[in-house]
Amino acid sequence: MCGIFGFVGNRSAAPLLIEGLRRLEYRGYDSTGLVVRNGSLQMFKKVGKVSELTKILPNHIEGKMGIAHTRWATHGPVTDSNAHPHMNMDESIALVHNGIIDNAKSLRNRLESKGVELTSETDSEVLVHMITIGLNSGQEPLEAVRQTLMRVTGTWGLCVLFKEYNQIICARNGSPLIIGQGVGESFVSSDPHALSQHTQNIFFLEDGDMAIVSSDGIDISRLEGGSSTTSMTILEDEWGEADMAGYPNFMLKEIHEQPEALRRCISGRLDKSNGSAKLGGLKLEPVRLRNSPHVRLIGCGTALNACRIGQLAIESLARIPAVAHVSSEFRYNDPVINPNAIHFAVSQSGETADTISAVKEIQLKGGDAHGIINVVGSSIARLCGQGVYIHSGPEQAVASTKAFTNMVASLLLFAIRIGRTRSFSRERGRNIIENFERIPQLMETYLSNQGPIDEAVELVKNAKSILYLGRGLSAPVASEGALKMLELAYIPCLAYPAGEMKHGPIALLEEGSPVIVIAPNDKHREKTIASMHECKARGAKIILIHEDGDSISEEADISIAIPACDSLLSPLLSVIPTQLIAYKTALALGCDVDRPRNLAKSVTVE
Ligand code: G6P
Repeated sequence: MCGIFGFVGNRSAAPLLIEGLRRLEYRGYDSTGLVVRNGSLQMFKKVGKVSELTKILPNHIEGKMGIAHTRWATHGPVTDSNAHPHMNMDESIALVHNGIIDNAKSLRNRLESKGVELTSETDSEVLVHMITIGLNSGQEPLEAVRQTLMRVTGTWGLCVLFKEYNQIICARNGSPLIIGQGVGESFVSSDPHALSQHTQNIFFLEDGDMAIVSSDGIDISRLEGGSSTTSMTILEDEWGEADMAGYPNFMLKEIHEQPEALRRCISGRLDKSNGSAKLGGLKLEPVRLRNSPHVRLIGCGTALNACRIGQLAIESLARIPAVAHVSSEFRYNDPVINPNAIHFAVSQSGETADTISAVKEIQLKGGDAHGIINVVGSSIARLCGQGVYIHSGPEQAVASTKAFTNMVASLLLFAIRIGRTRSFSRERGRNIIENFERIPQLMETYLSNQGPIDEAVELVKNAKSILYLGRGLSAPVASEGALKMLELAYIPCLAYPAGEMKHGPIALLEEGSPVIVIAPNDKHREKTIASMHECKARGAKIILIHEDGDSISEEADISIAIPACDSLLSPLLSVIPTQLIAYKTALALGCDVDRPRNLAKSVTVE
C-alpha cells in the first residue's frame, strides 16, 4: 500500500514523477500528490487516481527534483489534505511516507503544544514538523531525519525534500524503498516496476537504512549511525514488461499471459527422468524432506487460496501433515514452531506486512521459512533467503491471476518433490510431470474457446449473492473464484466446500440464485453432483465448470468446459473461467477492473 517515487537529475522532474506514479498506482489509489523543487517547493495533491492529479497540474512545472506519492488510506479519511506530500509550515520541507507511525498521537499533542499547526489527520505529518525542528536547531538534513526517526515507533519507507538542499533523504523500516542509480540522475521507488525503464542498477534498502540521494550518487548509512552494507544489484529484465500490450486493461492481459507465465515457472524444474521436480532455491536436503514432521504454508488473500491447494497436494502426495495459515493470525496465535518443520511464506509482492511478521515469528522461534514469491529481491524473498521465485513477470492488476496460477504450480512442484522423497513411485511422478508439461498448452486451448462466459455473467451480474462450491482441490479454487468476484464486481460471494453447503449456506438459495460449481472429473465428482441436486431442488441455477466431454455437463444450466487433465493439476485450468466470469461481470457493472475500490495490491501494514 502506498507508492513512493522520487527523482533527482538533469531532466524535468514532473513528467517522470507522474509516470512513476502511474506505474505504482496499483499499490493504492485513494489520492495522489507530488512536490517539485524549483527555488521553492511546489506541491499538488488530489483525491482519486493519478488521472485526477494530472487534471490540476499546469502544463509545465519547472524543476529537476521531486517526490511523489499514491496513497492507500490508513490514518485519516480520503481527502485532499490527507493526501501526501505533507509540508511544514513555511513550506521549506516536504515528505512522503508509506507505513504507520504508532506513536503519532502523542507526538501530535507535543507538536501542537509547541504551536505547530497540523493541517492533516495523518500519522505521517508529524514527521515533517519534527524534521523542521531538527533543521532549525542546526542539524543537517540527514541528521534531522535520523533524530526524528529515533523518536518514532512504527514502520516507514519515506522521502524528504528540502527547499534549501540539493538532495532527497530516504529511509526504510518495514516498508519497501528502492533506489535506482542512472547516469547523472537517481530515482527512488517503492518497487522495481517503476524503475526498470530508467535503470537496472538498484539498491534495495534494508530496514534501518537511510540514504542521501542526489544527482551525483547515493550514500547509504544506518539509522543508528555508521555505514550500511546494502549493495547494488542488477534488476532482472522481466520487470521491464509492464505495459498493456494492446489489451484494454492489465487484468485481461494477465489472464491471457498465464500459459506463458506458467511455462516460465516450470521451465527447468520438471525432472522427467526421476519423475520429480527441481527447485534449486529450496535449501532442503532429501533427509530433511524425509524427516520433517509437517509443512506449514502462510499467505493472505489469493496467496492464501494457493496455500490451501498446496496443503492438500502436499498432504496427499507426500503423506505428511500440511496446513495453510492466515498470515495475519499467525504471529498473534503464538504458534508452536518445530525447527524441523518446513514453512512456506507465499506472496506475490513479497511485501505483505502480515506475511512478513509471520516469517519473523517462525525465525524468532528457531525455524526457517522458504518464500514462494513473484517479486525478485522483495522483502520476504530477502528475509527468507531461500525459496522459489514463481516468475509470473510483473502483475499490475490489483486482483491476482497469473501469480495465483504460478503460486499453485510452484507448490504442486514442491508436493511432487517431497512426495517422491517420501512416498510415491517414479512412474507416478513421471506421469504427473508429463501432464504438467502439457498444462500451458491446455490453458491456451481453453483461452481460445472460453465457453458461455457471457451467459454466466448475465446470470450473476444482478444477483444478491453468489455461492461458489467445490470439493477437494476445487474447494480453494471456489474460494479464489469468489474472492475475484467480490474484489472486482462488489457482489457478496460465499465459497464453501460443496458438502458443507447443506449445513448453512443452503438457506440463502431461492428461485434463480446463481451457484458456481467447480467439478473436474476427480474422485469427488459423484458427491459434487449430489450437492448440485440439493441446490437445484431449491431453485438455484448452476454454472458448472467441468472437464470437456464429461456427462456431468447435463447437470448444468450453464456449462463451461475446460480441457481434461490429471486431477492434481486441475486448479491450474479450472480457476481461469472463474477469473473471466469475475472480470466480465465487473466490466458489465461498470467497475474499474484494474483498480477495484478500497483495495491495494500489496498491503504493507498489519
Ligand atoms: C492484498 C491484495 C490481494 C492479495 C493479498 C496478498 O490484500 O489486495 O489481492 O492477494 O494482498 O498479497 P501478496 O502480495 O502477499 O500475495
